[in-house]
Amino acid sequence: MRPYDGSDCSADVVVVGAGLTGLVTAALLARAGKQVVVLEARHVGACASGNTTGKVSVLQGTTLSRIAKRHSTDVLRAYVAGNQEGREWLLRHCDQHGLSAQREDAYTYAQSPRGVDAVQSELKACRDAGLDAYWEDDADVPFPFHGGVRLPDQAQIDPVPVLQSLVVELEQHGGRVLQGVRARAVRGSHPLRVQAQVLPADDGPEFTVTATDCILATGIPILDRGAFFARLHPQRSYCLAFDVPGPLTRPMFLSADSPTRSVRYAFGETGEKLVVGGAGHTVGRGSNVRGDLEELTEWTKKHYPGAVRTHQWSAQDYTPAAGLPYAGPVLPGAENIFVATGFAKWGMTNGVASALALSSRILGGRMDWASAFGSWGPHEISGLPTAMKYNAEVGLNLARGWISTLMPHPPSSDHGVVSGPPWNPRARSSIDGVECSPSAVCPHLGGIVSWNDADRSWDCPLHGSRFAQDGTLLEGPTTSDLAT
Ligand SMILES: Cc1cc2nc3c(=O)[nH]c(=O)nc-3n(C[C@H](O)[C@H](O)[C@H](O)COP(=O)(O)OP(=O)(O)OC[C@H]3O[C@@H](n4cnc5c(N)ncnc54)[C@H](O)[C@@H]3O)c2cc1C
Ligand code: FES
Repeated sequence: MRPYDGSDCSADVVVVGAGLTGLVTAALLARAGKQVVVLEARHVGACASGNTTGKVSVLQGTTLSRIAKRHSTDVLRAYVAGNQEGREWLLRHCDQHGLSAQREDAYTYAQSPRGVDAVQSELKACRDAGLDAYWEDDADVPFPFHGGVRLPDQAQIDPVPVLQSLVVELEQHGGRVLQGVRARAVRGSHPLRVQAQVLPADDGPEFTVTATDCILATGIPILDRGAFFARLHPQRSYCLAFDVPGPLTRPMFLSADSPTRSVRYAFGETGEKLVVGGAGHTVGRGSNVRGDLEELTEWTKKHYPGAVRTHQWSAQDYTPAAGLPYAGPVLPGAENIFVATGFAKWGMTNGVASALALSSRILGGRMDWASAFGSWGPHEISGLPTAMKYNAEVGLNLARGWISTLMPHPPSSDHGVVSGPPWNPRARSSIDGVECSPSAVCPHLGGIVSWNDADRSWDCPLHGSRFAQDGTLLEGPTTSDLAT
């Protein structure tokens, strides 16, 4: 990757974020003749899209029953229609570009009697939404199964080749992806001026992209206007890959009850692998992530004897307060700055649906189901109690973080601690002999970061910004590193 030289430039549309959502939006707009520039702070697929489980399914755990509890059947059906269209678009894209996608059934299942009610509610919601879903008392799996919903003919993909193919398509239509470039602010209105900086240095060259429209496809939006950070709950979770001597489970499974168990197979360099997901926690609030990963590993070895763990990765995604994704203007009436977020770990279909909705809006068209994806609308009212709960927890974690600075501990090997003085708390860590101590204060809204022992990162418990050991920003709503 050649670093961008930092010259000012212009485009019809600036897309911020080269994950699945940003790249599909960019490719669609470029196909329609728009001049598109994508700004990506790290590299293509660096965050959720390159580290997902890659299930392309409209059966999404207990998502549909949770939507059905809060919203009308029309809204539920619109959500499902958007996801079906997203799934079909993505699978067609794979087909047209010779990319592998395995058609498999998807299950939401109960791993104990406690989970049965939730799974039955999911079946009802599937049927209310018009899906041909089935109840199964049994399944051919080696782990506990107390009944489940099966939705036939869903799919699983490897997201990385898909992202690469989107970049190629974008470039063939004259678009550009500038990697290693962080968007820091959006100013003006007609035209917009997106202020960007060439990384890695926090003091790298700054430049401006002038554009008519801007789409923030950054996971949680980087602009605070619209306060999406207060309506989203950042959730981090983990995937483990195993070599398994016996037969692999073919369909895709996700438990309705805790602890979460997600299972699929995948093709690795040395043959087929089992991919198991779980160990989820609110970003910055996981107290024993490494312990949770060991527990997930033991569960796998127990049910797949001889399984050998070969890979581990993790990512985060954002759960919206009202249970529906946001794809629309950053503020009511702001018809040229858009957000796309709130996919609650189902962005393979929701991200593509959002891209379809936003690109057609910019091109003057409209998707019938897009009302379920609005960023501002009456359905937000049903999310108010949840948003208030999120923000009460944020307040508590803000206070807890600052109080913790009064209780200093020396950093031990492979570990990080926050220690005072309270007017200048430092995030101290020592890994493989490398000691770092950037400020512990998150530049977004002043949360105190906490150490994530599984990812060796500093994670903010308020809205999910994450930083490397030395304070370099990895992801989240902020656009700055931890201060030195
Ligand atoms: C563990 C896990 C498993 C999942 N499994 C599934 C699954 O099986 N099926 C499914 O449908 N969904 C799944 N999801 C959800 C899905 O992966 C995400 O919803 C989807 O990838 C989000 O895509 P995105 O493009 O919106 O965001 P991202 O892929 O996160 O992309 C955002 C991009 O924006 C960039 N960025 C951020 N800030 C800036 C800035 N200031 N300037 C420039 N660039 C910036 C980031 O570097 C990043 O590349 C999973 C999520 C997780 C966490
Ligand atoms: S992410 Fe908002 S305060 Fe840290």
